Amino acid sequence: FILWLSQPEDAFIPALAAVPVFKKQLSRFITYFIRPPLCNNDAESHVPRLKRDSVVEDVSAGRGVINFKVNRKLLVQKVLESFGKEEEGQFGLNSELLNTLTRGTTLVEYSSPNIAKKFHAGHLRSTIIGNFIANLKQCLGNNVIRMNYLGDWGMQFGLLGAGFAKFGCQEKLKQNPLQHLFEVYVEVNKDVEQNEEMMQAARAFFSQLEQHDSEAVSLWQQFREITVDEYQHVYKRLGVHFDIYSGESFHQQQAQQVVQKLQSQGLLKTSEKGTGVVDLSTAKDMSSVSTVLRSDGTTLYITRDLAAAIDRKEKYHFDEMIYVTDKSQAIHFQQLFHILLAMGHSWADRCEHVPFGLVRGMKTRRGEVVFLEDVLDEARARMLRNMNQSKTTKETVNPEDTAEKVGISALIVQDFRGPRESDYTFDWDRMLQAQGDTGVFLQYTHARLHRSDTVLFDPSHLLEQTSVPVLQHLLRYDEVLYQSAKDLQPKHLVNFLLKLCHLIASAHRELPVKGSSQDVAQARLRLFSGARSVLANGMKILGITPVDQM
Ligand code: ARG
Repeated sequence: FILWLSQPEDAFIPALAAVPVFKKQLSRFITYFIRPPLCNNDAESHVPRLKRDSVVEDVSAGRGVINFKVNRKLLVQKVLESFGKEEEGQFGLNSELLNTLTRGTTLVEYSSPNIAKKFHAGHLRSTIIGNFIANLKQCLGNNVIRMNYLGDWGMQFGLLGAGFAKFGCQEKLKQNPLQHLFEVYVEVNKDVEQNEEMMQAARAFFSQLEQHDSEAVSLWQQFREITVDEYQHVYKRLGVHFDIYSGESFHQQQAQQVVQKLQSQGLLKTSEKGTGVVDLSTAKDMSSVSTVLRSDGTTLYITRDLAAAIDRKEKYHFDEMIYVTDKSQAIHFQQLFHILLAMGHSWADRCEHVPFGLVRGMKTRRGEVVFLEDVLDEARARMLRNMNQSKTTKETVNPEDTAEKVGISALIVQDFRGPRESDYTFDWDRMLQAQGDTGVFLQYTHARLHRSDTVLFDPSHLLEQTSVPVLQHLLRYDEVLYQSAKDLQPKHLVNFLLKLCHLIASAHRELPVKGSSQDVAQARLRLFSGARSVLANGMKILGITPVDQM
């Protein structure tokens, strides 16, 4: 059926549904049109049978369509008064639609870089997408646990431990830990190619580590601690935090217990190569297996993940667990959940892998990105340069800080605009444009919107062609959050906010506050203030810190 309202915006229907009073009225018509279905010619004949009331002011027939004219004054009143009533930041969050979502404890695992290795674009994506998911879940009323699962175990520590004796320097380690660890790691990897002794030393170091040799463990611990300290500092710049810094190392012993459990449940098979595998094929003919034990008896990435998942369930009693990594790990997580289920852990059904696509060409002045800090520095430097060149830049107290926040929002918006699973090409110039659909545009719009505490205003001053669409759009906020909660795609919210900023831009042009009579100015300020609060809340969920001046 076609339902056409006096605004040429099909978003109007769900938009109206967001306000309970409109929703009730509207569902009356929707039921009416679903049966009997509306045919092209009978619009005329339906019109007299549809009642007008305080919500729907007028109903008229067009060619094959019925037009409903909504009471705009009531719409303006209802939307804007809810800003005054509800607590700051709560607009839309108590909607009936959002109340249909189940709430509970959500564990979100994200970022999860590997110690001494590169922090690549995939880790950056995991960090910001995971942070978005955690923020979203939290604002929808869940108890959220934010976890970073470090790659802090494995043969790389054998190499690092042995290599540190030859290439390492405590002084440099203190000054610039991430850089120095990475250098040592690169050096030792080169060295082992020609130097069999070094390889033996690395193996020896790792086996000392596995046997808890105190000297080896304390060096490892030092590497881990300084890495976490450094990361915490950089995450803070990015507006990201974690409740727990876990890691593969926490589960190496439990991983052996998992192997025993698999054995006792009859799930562990020995392959021709002598490795321990779990048969995942439906025909049970070993056509699809997952390796959980090396032939030398050591565990693997997936074995530690099995142990980690079981441990998290016992410790945190999560209702759902979300893993955020690039899509190349999709099979790993499928196998992980499959084995957990086979072991009888039915909660594995409530574990989800949230995959994302690859980023091409993330480079800084220093070349290929190795450290997260370099990306943030570059974003800030470029933004600062743009701000200095722009004529509209306001004097701010702290231009560095503003450039940092705006630069980061540019990174985030570039990343969140498309479908999460898609690959994209990193482009500094495009993402930092002041016009166009960028994070800079979001920040620019926010900085220009004023806050107003006026409660009393006359809605009849807001019935223009440019103000009503802003209000309709604001009403869709809860639907957008709902959709985002369903598919964990940040694009819905980003595109909603970008659209809002475009609508605000026209409203700013056509509804000046300065120079209008006091009544009109007050009503307009109320509109802009409402828009500002939705924009700010949405930005915060995305992981962006709104700036007040730029
Ligand atoms: N450290 C891994 C990497 O850099 C990501 C860890 C993902 N999480 C997990 N539970 N496996 O590829």
